[in-house]
Amino acid sequence: MISLDFLPKETVIYENIRQASSVIKDYAENRKEVVYGGLGIAVGVLITAKFFAWLNSKAVQMKKEDYEQLRKELFVPLAEVKSHDPELLKENSIRILEIGVGVGSNLTHYPDGSHLIVVDPNPYFEKYYNENRANFPNIKSESVIVATGEDMDMVKSESVDVVVTTAVLCSVKDMAKVISQIKRVLAPGGKYFFMEHIREWDQEKHGMRLFFQRALSLFFWPFMFDGCHVNRDPLPAINAVGFSDVKAEHLYAPMPFAVLQVCSPHLRGVVTK
Ligand SMILES: C[S@@+](CC[C@H](N)C(=O)[O-])C[C@H]1O[C@@H](n2cnc3c(N)ncnc32)[C@H](O)[C@@H]1O
Repeated sequence: MISLDFLPKETVIYENIRQASSVIKDYAENRKEVVYGGLGIAVGVLITAKFFAWLNSKAVQMKKEDYEQLRKELFVPLAEVKSHDPELLKENSIRILEIGVGVGSNLTHYPDGSHLIVVDPNPYFEKYYNENRANFPNIKSESVIVATGEDMDMVKSESVDVVVTTAVLCSVKDMAKVISQIKRVLAPGGKYFFMEHIREWDQEKHGMRLFFQRALSLFFWPFMFDGCHVNRDPLPAINAVGFSDVKAEHLYAPMPFAVLQVCSPHLRGVVTK
């Protein structure tokens, strides 16, 4: 129990704190189930975040060659991007912002000399990300920011040449906000590269998959996989933000296990501000 003896007994502050602490104590005693429930949820969220960071680090090691090939193709046009920043242009390098970087599975696709800013709200990823980053000494890490894509106001407007998200928009709380943040931080002419698993588009052929995507996204999938939904389609939100050019394609990505077939439909593309 915290002692309040250090406060002068006559003060209003002392009286207020004493009353507040007794209200909290009474509440905790009378509503134990609410208090324990709240604590349970907080611990659950912590364990899920930690577990998901670990799971993702293992999943990345298991990634199949043919899935990696899809990422490799996505990043081919990176080689053509020229920096808006005269200093970087002189070095022939670019500044990339990766949102939801996880363990950093895209680092292998970034050109040598790239300057990299990463954003991820799950602090448990940092350890795995830093271990992986050590394998890419030719990429210059500018900052590692623990924040959501919705709230990355610390990244300056029009400051990056490229933004990347892969398997991230399935988990964000407000997709439209993340995409408008992407547009804000991109320099004019900058490019947004994405590869996201999405909702099945062919209801006639793959109605069963769509059914499972909807059912799993109600609770089980987001609960198990840190907020991931398998029933989203980011394209309308991307189109709505008003980029100057949007190139996107649907594809079925190969999955390592049958149960992951719900994640097979993908949207891959590059848009230009
Ligand atoms: C499935 S992992 C993908 C990691 C990595 N992009 C990849 O392709 O391997 C999803 C990542 O999105 C992050 N994430 C979840 N919600 C987010 C949000 N609102 N803003 C930014 N990142 C988010 C998670 O912490 C996690 O690192």
